Amino acid sequence: MKPNLRASSDRLLRRIEQLAAIGSIDGGGVCRLALTEEDRLARDLVTRWMTELGLVVSIDEIGNVVGTRLGVVDGPPVMIGSHIDSVATGGRYDGTLGVLAGLELVETLNEANFQTQHALAVAFFTNEEGVRFAPDMMGSAVHQGSLGLIEALATKDENDASVGEELKRIGYAGDDAVATVTPRAFLELHVEQGPILEKAGTTIGIVTGVQGISWTEYRVTGTSNHAGTTPMRLRHDAGFVAAAITTEARHLADQLGGDQVATVGVTELRPNLVNVIANHARITVDLRNTTEDRLQQAEARMTQYIAKLAAIEGVEVASRSLARFCPVEFDPDVVNLIETTTNECGYACQRLPSGAGHDAQMFAPNCPTGMIFVPSQGGISHNVKEFTAAVEIDAGLDVLTQVVLQLTE
Ligand code: GLV
Ligand code: MN
Ligand code: MN
Repeated sequence: MKPNLRASSDRLLRRIEQLAAIGSIDGGGVCRLALTEEDRLARDLVTRWMTELGLVVSIDEIGNVVGTRLGVVDGPPVMIGSHIDSVATGGRYDGTLGVLAGLELVETLNEANFQTQHALAVAFFTNEEGVRFAPDMMGSAVHQGSLGLIEALATKDENDASVGEELKRIGYAGDDAVATVTPRAFLELHVEQGPILEKAGTTIGIVTGVQGISWTEYRVTGTSNHAGTTPMRLRHDAGFVAAAITTEARHLADQLGGDQVATVGVTELRPNLVNVIANHARITVDLRNTTEDRLQQAEARMTQYIAKLAAIEGVEVASRSLARFCPVEFDPDVVNLIETTTNECGYACQRLPSGAGHDAQMFAPNCPTGMIFVPSQGGISHNVKEFTAAVEIDAGLDVLTQVVLQLTE
């Protein structure tokens, strides 16, 4: 029989606060880039909580940490997962909410002395953000077999440190084989990180899927010369090319319209001096769309534009794909279950696709998967100002609890 459980957002918020003290930065946010000292400390704390709650903890070869609470019957668990790494200017809820909500649910089950029929696991995955090591969702991708372990371990950051070396250094190169378990179902509670729920005045987002993501890095090689003496027609200006690509990214998103978004998040120029034409630029382009065809159109347009631009300016442009994920649809039965449960709980809800990437998208092709969103104040995320009110966290936790109780039955 399903018990009448109510998890406590107070305790969850205290854990969020404690975790936010690790890698804290001005303004209330966090900087916990994957596999840094801060990531290690955060991992140590969450792993300790898992152990204290009686979970059986396993660490796999890509450093994913899974804590399992046994069920009445043997077999794969229902898994709740997300991440505890952050971007360098991260908020305290992104990822953390989903992992710590899982622990809160476990503690609530422990207090009620209730053993679910099927096992329940809470996981945090390595390097969801992908800003230090690309691609994002690395740990969950390896877990679900869409990225090879060897390739992931060999990935290097800008300082030539590899994922494998850094996992060893922080003590999270685990012994357990990756991708041996396909969960019975996978759930992720996450902050929306966008403005839709707040604007509509709804408390819960029923996530229908995740849009496709395409990240490309371009390295432009031109010629440095004097800013005052070099006639415009004789320039091979990497700085100009970087700026033109940035402008084209905005134009193509405006012209393709619909869901298309485009971002140039990195621009580095060398030698980066006021009176020297740049001979080198590194820039990144992030293109996303809910429709694969349209994402491919955006990619093709960018590729053609850059080829023409490089020829006219007389520069070399080398490109490298950093991440590429097709759009993902979540399981209709799980989506319906979350929606029905949210309605039964009495929260205003709406369906929406996710604009951000999430670990759940790596599970979606392999097991019934769904996500629950709670609103982000001002639609702000990847920013220290990221905030979700306690009452909304409470609602998300409530829906997660009731959905998990049904899926573990
Ligand atoms: C991950 O946070 C992403 O969507 O970039
Ligand atoms: Mn996240
Ligand atoms: Mn994020």
